[in-house]
Amino acid sequence: MRVNVLKGVKLSDLKCEVLVVGVLPGTKFASDKAIREVDELTDGAMLRYLSKNEKFGKTLEVVPFHISPKKHKFVEKVILLGMGSFDNLDNYKLRQVAAYAGKNKGKDTKSVAFSLPAAVSVADKIELLVIGFLDGNFDSGHHKTKQGHHLEFEELVILSDKASGDIQKRVDRALIIADSIHKVREVVNQPANIATPEYLVSFAKKIAASEQLKIQVFSEKQVNEMGMGIMASVAKGSDQDLYFVVMRYLGAGSAGPTLALVGKGITFDSGGISIKPGEQMDWMKMDMAGAASCFGAMEAISKLKPKVNVIVACPLTENLPSGKASKPGDVVKGLSGKTVEIINTDAEGRLVLSDALTYVQKNFKPDYIVDVATLTGAVVVALGNLATGAMGRPQEFIEEVIKAGEATGERIWQLPLYDEYKELIKSYIADIANLSSGKGAGAQTAAKFLEDFVDRGQKWVHLDIASTAWEESDKPYCAKGATGSSVTTLVELAMNLERGI
Ligand code: BES
Ligand code: MN
Ligand code: ZN
Repeated sequence: MRVNVLKGVKLSDLKCEVLVVGVLPGTKFASDKAIREVDELTDGAMLRYLSKNEKFGKTLEVVPFHISPKKHKFVEKVILLGMGSFDNLDNYKLRQVAAYAGKNKGKDTKSVAFSLPAAVSVADKIELLVIGFLDGNFDSGHHKTKQGHHLEFEELVILSDKASGDIQKRVDRALIIADSIHKVREVVNQPANIATPEYLVSFAKKIAASEQLKIQVFSEKQVNEMGMGIMASVAKGSDQDLYFVVMRYLGAGSAGPTLALVGKGITFDSGGISIKPGEQMDWMKMDMAGAASCFGAMEAISKLKPKVNVIVACPLTENLPSGKASKPGDVVKGLSGKTVEIINTDAEGRLVLSDALTYVQKNFKPDYIVDVATLTGAVVVALGNLATGAMGRPQEFIEEVIKAGEATGERIWQLPLYDEYKELIKSYIADIANLSSGKGAGAQTAAKFLEDFVDRGQKWVHLDIASTAWEESDKPYCAKGATGSSVTTLVELAMNLERGI
């Protein structure tokens, strides 16, 4: 697939099937030169429509016009696409608008030209536009036997007012990231009978092999021998072996900063003995989205080559009930030496992550840790599906992560980690309990549990992506299913750490 950013192209010279025109509300359509030119192709239908709909331009408001072959040799359709008011057009919305264009271009369309109002600087936003468009172009129907005729998309032309020297280089980087996001969404969408822990190991190994990354894959037996008994306790009910994957990208040598990414990789979360209700279960195949995002981000990072070291560490297992499974009330001991009382086997994410956090600190002494996990339903209650929840310390590092999200169109919202939450996860018999004794603040008490496994002075952010990793229904800008949430944030963060924060 090609992406070309072109400056000063004449409409008559466009060689695309579909032209998407981004529109801000309040545009004086009749005096807008670009609109008038396109209107020509529609024989005046477009301006007639706009004069009757003066307020046109709300976010994702859309109207298509079919173009007669007599009017243009290539362009068959023009789509006016509302972008909402310019004041509210943050990177999240801009990425969404681009995704809408990618999703609604028509299934068999091979080439699209995308034109934006002059107020939007294409040169500044090129990565967002490319990644957004390709996000929208994602199709998840790969287990349908009658897939139908589907043509590969070939060319995106972005019409720009300004030429910028390095723009093509930035397009290429965006294509790398978009490709990794697609791979992440593909694996997260895979059902749990296919995307087993072993399948995710192969996914990681493939990335490691093609990017020449160091990779270690610890088996369940090794995880037990190493003393990661909290992690291992989650796998006991499953017939599938647990794996703990550790990958390393060394872009900075021993002096440079090291970022550790720890991803939750529960390939199916039934809840275990504390079993979930049926209607909440089928989509729990997505409970490995954190691990998948870390692997995907690692792939993109190792292609973009920032001067930082990046460690990815992901526990991969299923959480199932059986005669061998962990039971509520069980007490287990981890690599840190701490003991945990498992009050609820459905709070398994924090269990596998606790030992992974201890492992990366003991073995790599990272400067920064970000863990990524579909950890709690509570974060969905707090934020809906509009933002990822963030907690951690120190405040400066949390803000750095939030900033990386803002730059790439991902919303991340901080929740507090008050001392008092610690009271709620006390155990009468072990060092800590995996469930809060209170009703509220479920996302925060889960993060508080993780914090207990983070050394003093360690910079650490926990991203709860239970709210953003999955789209429950088909949206005009995103197919139902996995979203690839947090990949762009993690890549951006790694790039920013190279520059130093
Ligand atoms: N994987 C779930 C969290 C989840 C919920 C992910 C919704 C995606 C969407 C997690 O393991 C879980 O079961 N959490 C429990 C915790 C509770 C038992 C304290 C929850 O949120 O209900
Ligand atoms: Mn669970
Ligand atoms: Zn889970």
